[in-house]
Amino acid sequence: MAEAFFDHPFLTGHHTPNRMEVDAPDLIVEGEIPDDLEGIFYRNGAEPAYPPREGDYHWFDGDGMVYAFHIVNGRISLRNRWVRTEKLEMELEHGRRLFGLLGNPMTADPLAQGKPYNTGNTNVILHGGKLLALMEGAPAVEMNPTSLETLGEEHYDGTITTTFSAHPKVDQFSGEMINMGGMLYGPEGQPRLRYDVINRDGKPTKTEFVDMPHSTLMHTHLVSENWVVFPVMPIDLSPARAAKGGPMVAWVNNRPSKLALMPRNGTADQVRWLEMDPRHMYHELNVWEEGDQLIADVATAAGTGLYPDEEGNKLSHAESKLSLRRWTIDLSGKTDDVKEEMLNGRDIQFPRPDDRLMTRKTRHGYSNVNLHSIDGRVDGMDGVIHFDTVTGEEDIYHFGDGAAVGELIFAPRTGSTDEADGYAMTMVHRANSVTSELAIFAAKDIAAGPIATVRIPFRVPPGFHCNYYASDSKLYQQAIGN
Ligand SMILES: [Fe+2]
Repeated sequence: MAEAFFDHPFLTGHHTPNRMEVDAPDLIVEGEIPDDLEGIFYRNGAEPAYPPREGDYHWFDGDGMVYAFHIVNGRISLRNRWVRTEKLEMELEHGRRLFGLLGNPMTADPLAQGKPYNTGNTNVILHGGKLLALMEGAPAVEMNPTSLETLGEEHYDGTITTTFSAHPKVDQFSGEMINMGGMLYGPEGQPRLRYDVINRDGKPTKTEFVDMPHSTLMHTHLVSENWVVFPVMPIDLSPARAAKGGPMVAWVNNRPSKLALMPRNGTADQVRWLEMDPRHMYHELNVWEEGDQLIADVATAAGTGLYPDEEGNKLSHAESKLSLRRWTIDLSGKTDDVKEEMLNGRDIQFPRPDDRLMTRKTRHGYSNVNLHSIDGRVDGMDGVIHFDTVTGEEDIYHFGDGAAVGELIFAPRTGSTDEADGYAMTMVHRANSVTSELAIFAAKDIAAGPIATVRIPFRVPPGFHCNYYASDSKLYQQAIGN
């Protein structure tokens, strides 16, 4: 008999784990699924199978649960499956939690000692004909793109056996996946990251190791047509500090952010380091080149509420809210200054472009947004926003106080090639409701409200990242076919 969960902000309310896998064919829709919307929407998130052993929890610790909404001929079906990693299979077999919180070996059951901590809970993408469930501390986990059966870790011919990014960039022009693995150490113990290029067929073509100025957590990297930037935030990871009773992961006050700029096809010795004011940035909208400038539209703030500083002080959500800003980097080397402009000051979480244009210039952005809630991470983002970064106009829809709104994803119209020609969709749970929704908008008129609301007949806890693949896209056809 499974033990009940204890009270915790991320284990109650919107976040109460369901612990169930479902097949729901032909869901009820209010409004109409447009004829020219056909494809698959995936969402990953954390749904722990068992309560942690420590009596404490962290949202990033739960077992990956992938939801897939498949839209075919105006009908939409839902399937969800756990990412059945070796960790989860062991725990389901024993009927209890065996691993320490966030993989802490000090609190693990002896059965879990030396076993890999992989939850695959953060993102879920198609690349090279495979569906990959991703977290940043462990290798990618392959799942069947339609049945969602877990097929095991993907090690790319043995080149990636340690960390993987939760945000590899798939450049749909070259078909390449530009990836990195952080939290690694070189032969002399120096912190470093691994940079990977995987070609459109899922074969590794490049591995490079880049030394870091200090150990850090790097959630994303910035990729344009020819360049990659590794952003090192003023965060470090210190077992020595933890041994003295301090935080293992801490924001280091008065430390600059550092950006490592490298040609995509270059080598570690070509890295140029730039410094800027302390910034927390862990999701970007898009990155591209214009002449000798690199433009990066990012969600950033001067600090973070995710980790305490070295003394254990933590910022509130309001003090660390992320806003959309533009960073401009000079590629010619004439200046090392990083210019920053505010594009939109709203409290956003996950900005996204028309993914087909990732690495190239874009104008339209999509995000979930916090309009009225106090702590957008726990209460939930309660709205969605579409930005026009040329005019500065915003196009907003509020789902009502108490709603928890997920990442807003652009979904191209069948046959479209122009930016933002299509729809946008997100998953929503309203406070105290026993059901959830998949809301579908016209991509250039979010304010008009959903054109279709797909009724999910049970509450889906908030999750992390989503992706949509149109049925006429190369990535869909390679993985799922016609
Ligand atoms: Fe993320």
